[in-house]
Amino acid sequence: MSYAIIGFGAVGQALARMFARKGLAVAVAGRRPPEAFASEARAIGSTVTAVPLGEALQADMILLAIPFGQHQELARAASRWDGKILVDVTNAFGVPVEDLGGRPSSTVVADAFQGARLVKAFNHLAAAKLAADPDVNGGRRVIFVSSDDDAAAEPVNALAEQLGFAPVWLGKLAEGGALVQARGKTWAPLIFQDFVKFDHV
Ligand SMILES: NC(=O)c1ccc[n+]([C@@H]2O[C@H](COP(=O)([O-])OP(=O)(O)OC[C@H]3O[C@@H](n4cnc5c(N)ncnc54)[C@H](OP(=O)(O)O)[C@@H]3O)[C@@H](O)[C@H]2O)c1
Repeated sequence: MSYAIIGFGAVGQALARMFARKGLAVAVAGRRPPEAFASEARAIGSTVTAVPLGEALQADMILLAIPFGQHQELARAASRWDGKILVDVTNAFGVPVEDLGGRPSSTVVADAFQGARLVKAFNHLAAAKLAADPDVNGGRRVIFVSSDDDAAAEPVNALAEQLGFAPVWLGKLAEGGALVQARGKTWAPLIFQDFVKFDHV
């Protein structure tokens, strides 16, 4: 499975740090040409490579770390998204609920990336916390996972495990997943909640 992070801001870099910590290869891309941030990427770790956006979009799994308001523009960057696993790390905080037709923001993102298999994950913690070592006092930091496509969540769970986190399944986007969806100017109840799972209890 190949991985790419789109967006190399606070969250994109935090995600890159997770991959680097485990020596897992990941491509990173944004709007700028790769030369503009190649050294920053390499400074995070030798497995983090800045690539042109078009190349990053070839990855099997794409972690979306761009502002919610940019998702439609990115969706237009490829003609087909069929079968691609899209991990939505965005938060639509401050976006009027009416602009989303009352739906979870991730459902709106899923609609824009027709054919992609959207999974919401890695969005509930601030970037600095995401970047930190997920091994906390012998437990693993929890990452919440939700999707309307149960099967697509499996490789995302596997990635979270590989990165040292404990994935916790919330269910469908509009059901358990609503617990991690910002709505208007309200953060959902699980956003910013830093849980740690201890496997021995
Ligand atoms: N910051 C947090 O603590 C946090 C935590 C969890 C989730 N989130 C969510 O994660 C997302 C990113 O947040 P952030 O704080 O990392 O933002 P940020 O620091 O502003 O970085 C955004 C990145 O997205 C890139 N980008 C913007 N539009 C793009 C497009 N159309 N195509 C490709 N790349 C594009 C930017 O590239 P350029 O530099 O080239 O413009 C930049 O690298 C947001 O949706 C946010 O709500 C943030």
